[in-house]
Amino acid sequence: MKPRILVTGGTGYIGSHTVVELQKAGYPVVIIDNLSNSNVKVLDGIERISGIRPDFVEADCTDIAAVRKLFNDYPGIKGIINFAASKAVGESMQKPLLYYRNNLNTLMNLLEVMGEKEVEGIVFSSSCTVYGEPDVNPVTEESPIKKATSPYGNTKQISEEIITDVINSGAPFKSILLRYFNPVGAHPSAEIGELPNGVPQNLVPYLTQAAMGIRKELSVFGDDYNTPDGSCIRDYIDVVDLAKAHVIAIERMLDNKSEEQIEVFNLGTGNGVSVLGLINAFEKATGVKVPHKIAPRRAGDIEKVWANPARANNVLGWVADTPIEETMRNAWAWQMKLRERGIM
Ligand code: UD1
Repeated sequence: MKPRILVTGGTGYIGSHTVVELQKAGYPVVIIDNLSNSNVKVLDGIERISGIRPDFVEADCTDIAAVRKLFNDYPGIKGIINFAASKAVGESMQKPLLYYRNNLNTLMNLLEVMGEKEVEGIVFSSSCTVYGEPDVNPVTEESPIKKATSPYGNTKQISEEIITDVINSGAPFKSILLRYFNPVGAHPSAEIGELPNGVPQNLVPYLTQAAMGIRKELSVFGDDYNTPDGSCIRDYIDVVDLAKAHVIAIERMLDNKSEEQIEVFNLGTGNGVSVLGLINAFEKATGVKVPHKIAPRRAGDIEKVWANPARANNVLGWVADTPIEETMRNAWAWQMKLRERGIM
């Protein structure tokens, strides 16, 4: 019997895909989520895929009493994967305190209770945003950390520092910091996927909604960047590939395979794809046209960033190898499922 894993934010986009992969690997999961940006019906989707309904606690991780109660109610938790965080860059500019409060208090509460309850390790969802606009691509884990351009990005940097300080102070647990590039797509079953509230801010949900006619057209933010086709370049990583890395990371800590008490990994494909390139890949994969126009640059956007994932490839034995076309087909199947269910 494998030990129980606590997944905070487990009904969210990346969290729900990770819960499925943990269950497939034999881990019992308890989710804590305040449902601020997700729906309890996600549990049905998880159950339909894996055949197992994860334990679920509706509570807010910023409430330390609720976190302590969860640990008492569900004994034997040995690992935590922390997805519970606010994640919209633009909103974080408007409501910085909300971001600092949610993201940092959640993390500090978890670290505090981990010390009390003999939890062995925590996987933290970090982001390539910590590299800012890199001087050189692809970025490695040693690339310089640049000053954050948003409160959201700052919470990721500060969170990495908090974990480092707590572990350096002698805390008896390990951590793996995973720096995600741009997670996209959905589970191939189309039972779970991304469910943005309101008008999507991120590229792929906007793109699939435009393809479906929910939005008039996708705005391509800028075609005058210093890139081959003039649009921005990112490293789009399939959400299921990303989810699998979390299982490897948690296992590594629980099996005492970590080489250091804190380890950092870039999670990306190593391929940079432009916005226009992604539209092209979607159209090729699905045969569906994406109405789009060129629009002005979006404030705060980075021109190009993609990962050197060699450390994750070599040390974790993990590779993000789902072809982008397959990821786009899954994103489209999910969008169609939302329509079928009358959600969108
Ligand atoms: C941002 C954050 C990242 C965060 C992610 C999730 C930064 C630097 N990056 O990534 O840390 O994890 O959001 O919220 O803060 N685009 C369009 N039209 C659209 C939407 C997007 O052309 O309607 C373009 C953008 O200009 C960008 C690319 O698509 O070049 C990807 O944008 P998006 O999906 O919003 O993610 P990032 O900004 O890369």
